[in-house]
Amino acid sequence: MNSSDELDAVSETLAQLVTRVRHTHEEIYGQPPEFVVAAPGRVNLIGEHIDYNDGFVLPMAIERYVVMAGSRAGSGHAQSRFHSISMDSDALLASDGSPVDHLDTPGWACYVQGVLAGFAGVGLDVPPLDVSFDSTVPLGGGLSSSAALEVATATLLEAVTGTTLDMREKALICQKAEHDFAGVPCGIMDQFSSVFGRAGELMLLDCRSQEITAVPFTDDGVTLLITNSNVKHELNGGEYAERRSQCDSALKIIGKPSWRDVTRDDIQMCRDQLSGSEYQRASHVVGEIQRTTRAAEALSASRLTEVGELMYASHDSLSRDFEVSCRELDLLVDLARGVGEAGGVIGSRMTGGGFGGCTVTLVKTESAPALIDRLMKEYEAETGVKPSCFTSCPALGAHIVS
Ligand code: ADP
Ligand code: GAL
Repeated sequence: MNSSDELDAVSETLAQLVTRVRHTHEEIYGQPPEFVVAAPGRVNLIGEHIDYNDGFVLPMAIERYVVMAGSRAGSGHAQSRFHSISMDSDALLASDGSPVDHLDTPGWACYVQGVLAGFAGVGLDVPPLDVSFDSTVPLGGGLSSSAALEVATATLLEAVTGTTLDMREKALICQKAEHDFAGVPCGIMDQFSSVFGRAGELMLLDCRSQEITAVPFTDDGVTLLITNSNVKHELNGGEYAERRSQCDSALKIIGKPSWRDVTRDDIQMCRDQLSGSEYQRASHVVGEIQRTTRAAEALSASRLTEVGELMYASHDSLSRDFEVSCRELDLLVDLARGVGEAGGVIGSRMTGGGFGGCTVTLVKTESAPALIDRLMKEYEAETGVKPSCFTSCPALGAHIVS
């Protein structure tokens, strides 16, 4: 067992998770599932808080999944029952997503409801279902467990209804579920990553045109280490919506139709009209769009030192200008930066929405165990919280398992 296995004992392979979900499904419903699907979480290498600003992002699906099993409910059932194995709770939902018992519907049901409503919205009739699901994506850790849940639900509904949606349409139905039912005005990165993920590739996603360019990531000599700070400081997701509206108001003042048309000079020219925080947000957005396309080019040309520098610059901008980092994420990045290239660390930054959650670190594969040991010891000594670490290759997006 290597050091990363030890440190992440809860990690299960996809095959093990599928076996466990099948088994639990049979125990709960008395028969094996007709359909089993999987949808991954994601990690973003660079391009943060710019998916809702017409920018570029460079994520990949990770080898952590929501696995969902389903069967058509027996006759006499008018509604679907969704059972979360991890939460040990049930939601009874009508086929258009509306809850049967408002008082007794768990919080997670909103993601499922949103996707059911999306299917009803495009005229697809979903029969009453018996469903169970579980996940190896850490919940609320910034690796998109909620997008994985939405995309798994959509994939199950496709299987049940014998439909294959256009992949973009599917991702957008899931994004709409997050907007309208979870109340989070997210961009498209998480749902696109979970739908479009491919083994051996990061995806450079142009969030304006929604086009994807594959960026191969197959060098065994380097790996992506994900470190969960295991803290979360965000209150009600309100900070995310606030950042979005600050970006929108800054763009209005700058007077360009899209952030893609804005230059650093444009921001300087409007400096007096922008509030202090609008100026900072604008500086991040324009800088991060450039860093992301440069990082994709550098990665394709194996210029890893440059990728690392861009990752650190991204983190610093998120911390100082966008103000979505926190003490714990800064500490993890500083610990990695302190090890430096001499110790095999190429670059590190916070990943996802921020205020806690995870960092992503590009590290030489042979140096990963020593880095993990160091992060575990020093982060816990400094914060009193145990972090969790795991590595992941780029994973296949949502698919039917059987
Ligand atoms: P993230 O997507 O970064 O993990 P969010 O706060 O957006 O964080 O989503 C986490 C929420 O997703 C959980 O609080 C829960 O409501 C829901 N969720 C994800 N996976 C599961 C699961 N296996 N069972 C129940 N709820 C889940
Ligand atoms: C996530 C959100 C994404 C993206 C990201 C920050 O939480 O769902 O759409 O905006 O934050 O890059």
